[in-house]
Amino acid sequence: MGLRIVVSNALSSILIIWFMKFFIDTANLAQIKEAHDLGILDGVTTNPSLMAKEGIKGKEAIRKHYLDICELVDGPVSAEVIATDFEGIVAEGKALAAIHPNIVVKVPMIKEGIKAIKWFTDNEIPTNCTLVFSAGQAILAAKAGATMVSPFIGRIDDSSWDGVQLIEQIVSVYNAQGFMTEVLAASIRNPLHIVRCAEAGADICTCPLDSILGLLKHPLTDIGLAKFLADAKGLQ
Ligand code: E4P
Repeated sequence: MGLRIVVSNALSSILIIWFMKFFIDTANLAQIKEAHDLGILDGVTTNPSLMAKEGIKGKEAIRKHYLDICELVDGPVSAEVIATDFEGIVAEGKALAAIHPNIVVKVPMIKEGIKAIKWFTDNEIPTNCTLVFSAGQAILAAKAGATMVSPFIGRIDDSSWDGVQLIEQIVSVYNAQGFMTEVLAASIRNPLHIVRCAEAGADICTCPLDSILGLLKHPLTDIGLAKFLADAKGLQ
């Protein structure tokens, strides 16, 4: 979570305040720039499907694209490995981490992935454990020292469960156990998901641009602004 330490004179105490970080869930540079220009962007997540959607092909193009993202946003940028064996994940993750200090190696929640996350933890390479659908998986990721864990709430909703309940459960388990792994709510489908993840205590929400922009919308804001602007004509 974003951490802010406030020294309060009235209480002669230090209040520690957390706030949810906003990541954008895309590999599209124009969308990343648009969200960054809002001034509220803390990081970026990608996955192989999002990279393929941008038509990025080959090792050099992938490396260049991650570098372009890192140059746009000064915050964690998740880059996902494709290998599924320990040696392959470690080799790929090392190469990704070497691209830029802000790269976070995204590793799938599989047995070899957990072993690799532990290796990355021991070698001080930040990780994001992806494809998490249960609290048990989140506990394993935290035990291995994952920097972030990504529960996919939209995909859970698609299977007629409540994805946000999983965020609540993982937040509660991590608080009870003192795990430092950040809960990164992924697979966000709409602005209400973002609000509910904030309520549930997610450390980070990674969202498509549409969901972020959806937070702006309220018809009463539009009606109110139109009236203010109409009345302001009388002031000129
Ligand atoms: C990001 O980290 C995840 O890969 C992404 O949020 C998955 O989203 P989707 O379920 O909409 O594909």
